[in-house]
Amino acid sequence: MKNRTFQGFLSLLSCSVILFACQQTGGKKEESKKPGIEKSGFGTLPDGRAVDIYTLRNGQGMEVKITNFGGTIVSWTAPDRNGKYEDVVLGCDSLAGYLRGVPYFGAIIGRYGNRIARGKFSLDGVQYSLATNNIGNHLHGGIVGFDKVLWTATPVAGDEPALKLAYLSKDGEEGYPGNLNVEVVYTLQKDNALKIDYTATTDKKTIVNLTNHSYFNLAGKGDILNHQLVLNAGVFLRVDSTLIPTGEPRPVAGTVFDFTKPTGIGMRINDKTDAQIRFGLGYDHCWVLSDSSKTLKSAAILSEPASGRVMEVLTTEPAIQFYSGNFLDGKVIGKGGAAYQYRSGLCLETEHFPDSPNRPEFPSTVLKPGDTYRTTTVYRFSVRN
Ligand code: BGC
Repeated sequence: MKNRTFQGFLSLLSCSVILFACQQTGGKKEESKKPGIEKSGFGTLPDGRAVDIYTLRNGQGMEVKITNFGGTIVSWTAPDRNGKYEDVVLGCDSLAGYLRGVPYFGAIIGRYGNRIARGKFSLDGVQYSLATNNIGNHLHGGIVGFDKVLWTATPVAGDEPALKLAYLSKDGEEGYPGNLNVEVVYTLQKDNALKIDYTATTDKKTIVNLTNHSYFNLAGKGDILNHQLVLNAGVFLRVDSTLIPTGEPRPVAGTVFDFTKPTGIGMRINDKTDAQIRFGLGYDHCWVLSDSSKTLKSAAILSEPASGRVMEVLTTEPAIQFYSGNFLDGKVIGKGGAAYQYRSGLCLETEHFPDSPNRPEFPSTVLKPGDTYRTTTVYRFSVRN
C-alpha cells in the first residue's frame, strides 16, 4: 500500500515536471510571438569596444536582427505562402565575419551611397577630396564608411519595436566637410514591413546620401535569377566602365533595363550586346523613379515564384540602385559557413543619383546648416499564391 502511494507520488511528480517543462516551452513560444526588442552581445572590436545585436519581433512571426556595428541588418525572417519562415538576407553569424570584410552586407551606407567620380567635388568654390576606394572613385562613404563604425543604439519597446541608431561623423571624416549628426531608426511594423527613417544635420555645408545595403534572396538559398522584379522607373542612368553616370538618362523601353512589368531577373542579365550590361557585369545601375515626388511611393516589387514571397520597396527617394550581386564570387563566407556565390543576393538601394555632387542637373544632395536631411524607405513583405 505504502509502496503504491509512493509510486503514485512519483508519477504525480513526473507529470508535474513534464507539465512544468511544457509550460516553459509554451512560454518560450509565446514569448517569440510577442512584439518586442531584445539585446545580446555580438562580440568585441579590436579596440575593445563591445558590440551588440538587437532582435526585433513584430508579434506576427517576423524577426529582424540588427547590430550597432555598421547599423547592419544581420538576419530577417519572412514567411512563404505556407507560413514557413526563412532568413531572406545575406550576412554573417558573428562580428568576426563582418570584421574579416564583407561587401556591405545589410549595412547603413554613408555619407554617400554609391560613387563620386575620382572622389572630388566642390561646394561654394572649395574643392573637397574624398578617400578613393573603388578604381579611383569614391564608393559608399570611403574606406571607413558608416558600414564600419559603431553606432549608439537605443531600443524602443512597443507593439512596433524600433531601434534608434546615432552616429556623429566628424568634420573631415573620409574627406567630407562638416560635423554630421546622423540618426537611423529601424521600425518593425505589424504589417511585416521594416521602416527605415534617416535624418541628419550638419554644422557646415556638406553632401549626404544615405541608404541600406541589404542583399535579398527571397528563396533563402540559391541564386536570384528566378526572382521577378518590377521597377517603377521609365529611365535609368547610363554609366561608364567605372560605373560613373555619363549624362542623359536613357529610356528603358525596348532595352534589357525595362522592368516596368514583372520580369525574371535572369532573362536578359547576360545580354552582353548592351554595353551597359558589360560595364555592370549584369545589373548595377540607378533607375530614376517615374514619381519624382518626395512622398512615400512604390519603387520596386520583388517576388520569388517558388516560395510566393513578395517584397515591396517604398521610398521618399528619387531613385533606386538595383545591383544583382555581380561581384559575389564565393569568397565571402557567411551564415552557417555558406560561401556566397555569384548573384546569390541582390540589393535594392533607395537613394539620390550617383555622382550628384558633380552633376548640377541631378536632384541636389547638399545639406546646409539649419536644414534637416530626412528620408524614409519601407521594405514590406507579403505572399502570393
Ligand atoms: C554598387 C556596386 C558595388 C556594390 C558593393 C553596389 O551598391 O552599385 O557597384 O560593387 O554595391 O557591394
